[in-house]
Amino acid sequence: MSDISIKIMPTNHKIRVKKGSYLIDVLYEHGFIIPSSCGKRGICGKCLVEIEYTSESNEESVEEKSHLFVNSCQFIIEKDITVYLPQMQIDKQKEIYKYKKPYQIKVETNINPNIQVLKINVEREEIKKSKSYLDYFFNLVAKKNVSIEVLKKIACVKNDVNKSYNLICSNQQIIDIKSEDKFNGIFGIAIDLGTTSIAIELIDLMSGKNVGDISELNPQILYGDDVISRISYAIQSKENIKLMQKSVISGINNLIEQLIEKIGITQNDIYDVVVAGNTTMIHLLLGIDPDSLGEYPFTPTFISSLAIPAKEIGMHTHPEAQMYIYPAIGGFVGGDITAGLLAINAMKQENPFLFVDLGTNGEIVVSKQEHLFATSTAVGPAFEGVRIQCGMRASIGAIERITINSEDIDIKVIGNIEPVGICGSALIDLLAILLRLKIVNTSGRMLLESVNNPNIPEKIRKRVKTNNSDVIFEVFHGKNKKIFLSSRDVRQLQLSCSAIKCGIKLLAKEAAIELQTIKKVYIAGTFGFYLDKKNLKTIGIIPDEINEEKIDFVGNSSLAGAKYALINKNLRSSIEEISRKIKHIDLSTIPEFEEEFAMSTFFPESE
Ligand code: FES
Repeated sequence: MSDISIKIMPTNHKIRVKKGSYLIDVLYEHGFIIPSSCGKRGICGKCLVEIEYTSESNEESVEEKSHLFVNSCQFIIEKDITVYLPQMQIDKQKEIYKYKKPYQIKVETNINPNIQVLKINVEREEIKKSKSYLDYFFNLVAKKNVSIEVLKKIACVKNDVNKSYNLICSNQQIIDIKSEDKFNGIFGIAIDLGTTSIAIELIDLMSGKNVGDISELNPQILYGDDVISRISYAIQSKENIKLMQKSVISGINNLIEQLIEKIGITQNDIYDVVVAGNTTMIHLLLGIDPDSLGEYPFTPTFISSLAIPAKEIGMHTHPEAQMYIYPAIGGFVGGDITAGLLAINAMKQENPFLFVDLGTNGEIVVSKQEHLFATSTAVGPAFEGVRIQCGMRASIGAIERITINSEDIDIKVIGNIEPVGICGSALIDLLAILLRLKIVNTSGRMLLESVNNPNIPEKIRKRVKTNNSDVIFEVFHGKNKKIFLSSRDVRQLQLSCSAIKCGIKLLAKEAAIELQTIKKVYIAGTFGFYLDKKNLKTIGIIPDEINEEKIDFVGNSSLAGAKYALINKNLRSSIEEISRKIKHIDLSTIPEFEEEFAMSTFFPESE
């Protein structure tokens, strides 16, 4: 390690770094998550930071401090510098979603995990009747396979008989043997592997109960904030695929370590894993090149379910733990959707329903009798606060709710501190308010003339201003911080809304379903809980034909689905059935797509 040091301001962190390191990588390694939309290619400008360095003035050899804004993904550290980070990075976005309930779904199911435990008393007299110690155990549990590690443990039992042991079995195999004093129970890990975040639940497989949950940003965010950027980064080299695989696995392991430490168990107590995630994330988790997902016809390398040893990818579990990967439906309708459908009991629903996952990639499913139709639509990351000037993810300091009173707006900030940005739920609130007050018109234009509109409370209309020749609505004006929604931001949100609305309409048409006949609308996605049904209708995400009473927010249904597949292994056959039955529709092949999309860009008329 060379003697270069960098100082991070305003936290005053001092870091020793290797000369020649990229600034973005160094910052990330130390927990400062810098946004990146282009996979560190120097195109998006999202990773811009201010640096200070010492330069020498020629004439008198006097040292001077110079300041520069650089794309941290392109900046190679050659000498000591000071980096000034925006407040948002200081707050370590790794805190994302930690305060949130992951989901609100309860599936009535038996506890029937893939792992069984049999408590036995090893009796010397009984062993004498068997041909070997192993035969004695095989007969007890009616199993016929064993690993060398378990054989070694059985060899030790020889010297320690007349004692209680727990035999841990999976399918035809004894996978572990633990004496009573070393037995902590059997546990499984349910994982929702999202593009933006990873959510994990630790499940006690004997009781089926959740004993801990945790979530964090997907560390791959460093390589792009949506699947397309990750695919582009992967396409550049095999090394990049390895890097992204390593980063997501270390992110998962890090979460597992935090959970097991809290509960007081070890990784050897985790015997089963279920992962649900979108198709690209699953490819990258396994180190599979996702290149074919980057070009038409977007055919993935695989979509079927897989059961593979978790240790094969270096996951921190028991060495014999299996990892079940949810089957996907298509390149852009992944296993997270199959998991969500299991969680809402899709196969048992008699009435037509609509399922919408409000992620970066909006997945939509409609049902008609026993038939299911699915599609995906490019929503973009605007609802996650990305590509919005004052947007941020739902972490400490984010404005998460905006409501209106008789005179002005009220804001609610996560952590009750001075706000640093606006997250998705509040962006939807605000857009709905602006549409109702006609500050934004149906074509998405923010009207500067609203400042003179007597129908709008004075304090609110005074918030309509101009900023760099753009019309903005100011939400917060602090000492050092101004938070606003600009006309350009409205445009981003408008595109996201129309992508979903158009997707719902076209999918219903393809499935020959009248939207009025839909009895239930499930809105999935972690930030769903924090949305207002009326506002979803106002901004047009949910078409006019569907009443808001039909909307039900289910939260992270992918994580719920992963959990239930852990608790009851028989549900895995229902999962396979769901994935086989769904018809995948590619919206871009529908002739009316462009026309419908253009029509959907108009916001509904508000009363
Ligand atoms: S320009 Fe640096 S990440 Fe895009």
